[in-house]
Amino acid sequence: MKISIGADHAGFEYKKLLIEWLKTQEHQILDFGAFSTDSVDYPDYAYPTAEAVAAGIADYGIVICGTGIGVSITANKVAGVRAAVCCNAELAKFAREHNNANVLALGARFIDFELAKSIVKTFIESEFQGGRHMIRIEKIHNLTGI
Ligand code: RB5
Repeated sequence: MKISIGADHAGFEYKKLLIEWLKTQEHQILDFGAFSTDSVDYPDYAYPTAEAVAAGIADYGIVICGTGIGVSITANKVAGVRAAVCCNAELAKFAREHNNANVLALGARFIDFELAKSIVKTFIESEFQGGRHMIRIEKIHNLTGI
């Protein structure tokens, strides 16, 4: 699977560790930064990460900041992106099954790394259920024509 990933300074460490872990599972990673813990602005990293998903260059995106909130708001500005902040694996499962989320947002300051891994694993292994959920997603997209 191709996965784009981006983080601000608060998410940098988890991004680095997630990349190492995902590579051991043969996933291809597109790393959009940031590349240190120096203070940066999360939109500069979350937006291109999400754009890669919308462009079909990546299957899924992962965006990380301190809370997951800033990066999710940013990612959802990209047409065709459905970003969900998930703080446990069950939410990640529903984000995929019901919302067909294609970008996962994580708050590094609120979850430990083992939990972050289980959220990512559940997200990428869960399948969209379609049916009534598809109708709802189409309604979201029809709101803005995207
Ligand atoms: C950075 O201090 C912090 O504001 C950012 O990582 C994020 O939590 C914003 O939503």
